[in-house]
Amino acid sequence: MQVQPPEEAAPRERSTFTVLVTGANSGLGFAICRRLIDEFLLTRPQTQTLHLLYSTRDARKSEDTSRRLHSHLQKTLRGANGGTLSPQEAGKWGERVKIEGVLVDLTKLVTIKSLADDLLGRGGRLDAVVWNAGLAGWKGTDWGKGAWHILTDLIHATTYPEFMIPDVGLVAGSQSLGGTKSGEETEEEPKLGQVFLANVFGHYMLTHWLAPLFTPESRIVWISSTSALPPYFDLDDMQGLHAHAAYESSKRLTDFLVLTSELPSTRPYVRDLLETPSGQPHPLPKMYVTHPGVIGTSIAGLNWFMNFWMLAALYFSRWFASPWHPVDPYKGAISAVFCALSPPSQLPELETQEGKGKWGSATGVYGDERVARTEVEGWGFCGVVGRVPAGSVTTGRWRGRRELDKEGREGFEVEGGKVWREMEGLRKEWEGRLGL
Ligand SMILES: NC(=O)c1ccc[n+]([C@@H]2O[C@H](COP(=O)([O-])OP(=O)(O)OC[C@H]3O[C@@H](n4cnc5c(N)ncnc54)[C@H](OP(=O)(O)O)[C@@H]3O)[C@@H](O)[C@H]2O)c1
Repeated sequence: MQVQPPEEAAPRERSTFTVLVTGANSGLGFAICRRLIDEFLLTRPQTQTLHLLYSTRDARKSEDTSRRLHSHLQKTLRGANGGTLSPQEAGKWGERVKIEGVLVDLTKLVTIKSLADDLLGRGGRLDAVVWNAGLAGWKGTDWGKGAWHILTDLIHATTYPEFMIPDVGLVAGSQSLGGTKSGEETEEEPKLGQVFLANVFGHYMLTHWLAPLFTPESRIVWISSTSALPPYFDLDDMQGLHAHAAYESSKRLTDFLVLTSELPSTRPYVRDLLETPSGQPHPLPKMYVTHPGVIGTSIAGLNWFMNFWMLAALYFSRWFASPWHPVDPYKGAISAVFCALSPPSQLPELETQEGKGKWGSATGVYGDERVARTEVEGWGFCGVVGRVPAGSVTTGRWRGRRELDKEGREGFEVEGGKVWREMEGLRKEWEGRLGL
């Protein structure tokens, strides 16, 4: 790795880039933090400092993550410039990265609010947030079905798996509000779907509560999945409380939210979500949707033995030319880090010119990772019928896909508008319930 050459900068030229990553103690979140450090040192001027805020659920995980991230930073510095940095120089480079843990449990709204209050209390700004934390809500794997699918249809089965056993109706614990007295009546606390809350709604509330820290250039990066497919999502069950694939449903919901977030039809809702309390009209920060492809992490909930066979199946998928099998979380992190760090000409301007996309982490057979546009049912590659921008992946597609047509595209926009209306309604309802 070749880092930016050392140069003294006048204090007034120094600037800090602050980024918050949720769910950073394992898997993709940890890899995103490592890759952010590496790419920041590689691409940003010596005058810039990275303030990396990472979230975990408890102090022990936070300390452990801090230790591992600092050790990664040291390793990066040791290898920088072909290993030629002196200890003094390495120390100076290291000072450009400040690593800090924060705590939040995304299934507990009060902890989300207190994280937001903590960050708001400090002032400053957030240049990027990566909403990575997530849970699967599966209770196991149907091994017979899984083995059959993998042996007969390897790439499709490992990209769009249909052999996980869902834990239908998973509900988040009480938000500890108790019953609310309203005249004679006591209002029972409504249910919140656990997977929906951890993967989407918790981050959605955090986005709103952190809005004063965003600037028009800030980036809100969401993590979706290749398996965010239409059959899994039903607007009448937005929280996936009755769904047999609450995880996939939450990811399809993420696609709807982000891909329709710049359309005129959703503007009033997006403005309500992102505008600061002072109501100052200004260009709003943009949302981006990414996915890591398929990577080997603990989200699958497997023991070491089954994990070994899962990794083998994922590597074979890549060697048989699947575009969506980075397998290694660090490679899978490329799309999220691209959305957080890339210069304006490579992302906001590109989306303005070519259309909004779902940015995935793709690889070649040798594991050479790259960022690529992913097809989304009803949206295509960029929201325009018949347009396939350069750099889109057109292989390894879902077998149930329909060619994008005008009706499909309009349907996506209509459903996206309804999603935004429902999400904003739910946000206001819960803010009221929390007394905010
Ligand atoms: N693995 C894949 O192939 C793949 C593919 C597509 C998308 N993704 C997405 O990538 C993201 C990360 O998943 P992963 O594969 O890296 O799995 P992972 O290793 O299990 O990481 C999940 C992270 O989310 C955190 N988390 C879970 N529930 C939380 C909650 N209620 N509050 C706060 N943090 C919580 C976990 O913390 P704890 O350790 O405390 O539980 C952990 O840090 C998820 O959004 C997932 O949907 C993964």
